[in-house]
Amino acid sequence: MHDRSPEILHNARAWDKLARQQVPLAQPAKDADLVEPLSQVDPLGWLGGSVRGLRLLCLAAGGGRHGAIYAAAGAQVTVADISGEMLALDRAVAAERGLALQTVETSMDNLAMFPAGTFDVVIHPVSTCYVADVGKVFSEVARVTRPGGLYVSQHKSPVSLQAEVRASDGTVRLREPYYRSGPLPAEAPCRLREAGTLEFLHRWEQLLGGICRAGFVIEDLVEPRHAEADAEFGSFGHRAQFVAPYVRIKARRRSSESNFSFLCAQ
Ligand SMILES: C[S@@+](CC[C@H](N)C(=O)[O-])C[C@H]1O[C@@H](n2cnc3c(N)ncnc32)[C@H](O)[C@@H]1O
Repeated sequence: MHDRSPEILHNARAWDKLARQQVPLAQPAKDADLVEPLSQVDPLGWLGGSVRGLRLLCLAAGGGRHGAIYAAAGAQVTVADISGEMLALDRAVAAERGLALQTVETSMDNLAMFPAGTFDVVIHPVSTCYVADVGKVFSEVARVTRPGGLYVSQHKSPVSLQAEVRASDGTVRLREPYYRSGPLPAEAPCRLREAGTLEFLHRWEQLLGGICRAGFVIEDLVEPRHAEADAEFGSFGHRAQFVAPYVRIKARRRSSESNFSFLCAQ
């Protein structure tokens, strides 16, 4: 096992605990998720309508949902995660449903067990907030994605991690500086922050710039809509009327450095 930073070890233990507590993010795929599996996870059709036969890495995606859904859609799935207990849920659901998938316990910034170009697709649900150095993660993802392959990732939006929204009138206060280092102050568990974990804010230049610098071209970006018009004041849906919580990014692995020079010259 390569050296893991104290934050990463801390988060591995925190996620093991969340898995034991069966929090919503540690809920395996349900019957309904497996009927039209791809529509559950790719509502925008970024994966071109089929992943059958593709080598697909579900990165930091333990918990029994993503791996099972992509395996049911016919992909050759590997789930990599830092938490042994989240991965145990993937193995359990795969055994129960007769699905084939592999699990690998590792940190997202160390994919050394995979040779370059191993995967056609990397799916990365919200989780870059759990590492301090997101650039290292993107360069590892770029190395294991084949040229022309897809990297679909979702991240907590930096402004959402900075902001406090006053429930009474929606006044937004940016209580965390944008330029900051170290983990964010602990918060009461809620849909935006997971109990016991250490989370880091990454700026846009680190997220979007980092993905580009690692060797990808960004093809699309959306902010999945969680705002609810008639949401109760102070609820997640109410907060999301003022600040979008997440960003989802579609990026394609560049084929060669010469290609990159050409794009930069445009
Ligand atoms: C929000 S959950 C994502 C998967 C979840 N089942 C879902 O439905 O979205 C975040 C995952 O990131 C994992 N994680 C946290 N830090 C990690 C790291 N450094 N490397 C790999 N995985 C990590 C956690 O163990 C957890 O399974």
